[in-house]
Amino acid sequence: MEQYIIKGGNPLVGEVTIGGAKNAALGILAAAIMADDVVTIENLPNVRDINVLLQAIEAIGATVDRVSDNEVKINGSTIGCLNINYEFIRKIRASYYLLGALLGKCGKASVALPGGCAIGSRPIDQHIKGFEALGALVTIDHGTIATSAEKLVGNHIYLDVVSVGATINIMMAASRAEGKTIIENAAKEPHIVDVANFLNSMGADIKGAGTDIIRINGVSKFKKTTYSIIPDQIEAGTFMMAAAATKGNVLIKNVIPKHLEAISAKLIEIGAEYDDAVRVIADKRLGGTQIKTLPYPGFPTDMQPQTAMLLALSNGNSMVIESIFENRFKYVDELNRMGANIKVEGNVAIIEGIERYSGAQVSAPDLRAGAALVIAGLVGEGITTVDQIHYIQRGYE
Ligand code: EPZ
Repeated sequence: MEQYIIKGGNPLVGEVTIGGAKNAALGILAAAIMADDVVTIENLPNVRDINVLLQAIEAIGATVDRVSDNEVKINGSTIGCLNINYEFIRKIRASYYLLGALLGKCGKASVALPGGCAIGSRPIDQHIKGFEALGALVTIDHGTIATSAEKLVGNHIYLDVVSVGATINIMMAASRAEGKTIIENAAKEPHIVDVANFLNSMGADIKGAGTDIIRINGVSKFKKTTYSIIPDQIEAGTFMMAAAATKGNVLIKNVIPKHLEAISAKLIEIGAEYDDAVRVIADKRLGGTQIKTLPYPGFPTDMQPQTAMLLALSNGNSMVIESIFENRFKYVDELNRMGANIKVEGNVAIIEGIERYSGAQVSAPDLRAGAALVIAGLVGEGITTVDQIHYIQRGYE
């Protein structure tokens, strides 16, 4: 089993260039198969989730030409079988984006049902609600979700929960439905905007992405395009926390500062130095604060473990409320084994800051928690070993 073995104690000093956004790339790769022509995607993050989704896309008959680690050409005109088998969805939930893409492209698709995962049950009822509103028939049996529609017709869809995945999945299907679709209570994350911009570059007619109302006029065909993916705000945020936790000085390049406002505001609040370069400097122990995760532009849930790890080193007390997922504090037990003083009550973590972690053998419970444990090892006194690092490799180059 692969591990990271980390000797802690060195401040991070230097610069890092941020890659393409994983959670934008997953939606964009799925949408790319909707054109019956060559679609070139640049600034692709070379991480495991991306590589698995490309395998799933190839397995249904699309041609995939990996020009380089960070560029791929996809042609969906050769797509044959329309069911994504369990092997891929088991490896990556985002294979369910192929439902919306194939429903929009050929009116039919079936995908193995995604399981829950380390951070919660993660239902897809809102995805199904959207597909049915567009006129699709959705059936679930033997662990497979199948959708089909003679014709997709635009509709007015109100999401009961602000859901990134449902917004992207419905947007893809609706972009090829007949007539107008309105998605209300839509997610507003930067990666939603990126997927909408990508679809529009293929000839879709989508307005309002990034607000909570997205208006779509369906079109019948998509054309070839070349598109570059936005920088990954969560990768950037992870390096920002690493710079602060190690009392370092790091220039984080190729980011969109606006996407980092919730994160940088908290770093400034607890005493780190920050500028829009983006540079993060911390040469002293930082203060405590309160964090509540919310849909964008609120504080991102994907930054919750990395931030709690930093607050556990503060010279004060902090509170972290996880309002998106029901089980995203599994890493706390691991941090407490490194000397942290964190108590979890339901979806609230109460943190009393300590001076420094002590190195220990820890295990990554999921992607972002794994990143937080690696950073804790960078600060930890002595050696820290992190195992289950396949989670980390899913989302960090
Ligand atoms: C996306 O997951 C991201 N994954 C997650 O990042 C991220 O944490 C999450 O959005 C929130 O920002 C990808 O983009 C591949 P949601 P997604 O649908 O789309 C509930 C990472 O670390 N819900 O916005 O699955 C759900 O249970 C990963 O990169 C329903 O109830 O998240 C959750 O409580 C982890 N019904 C809330 O909504 C539905 O049909 C938000 O989930 C869908 C969601």
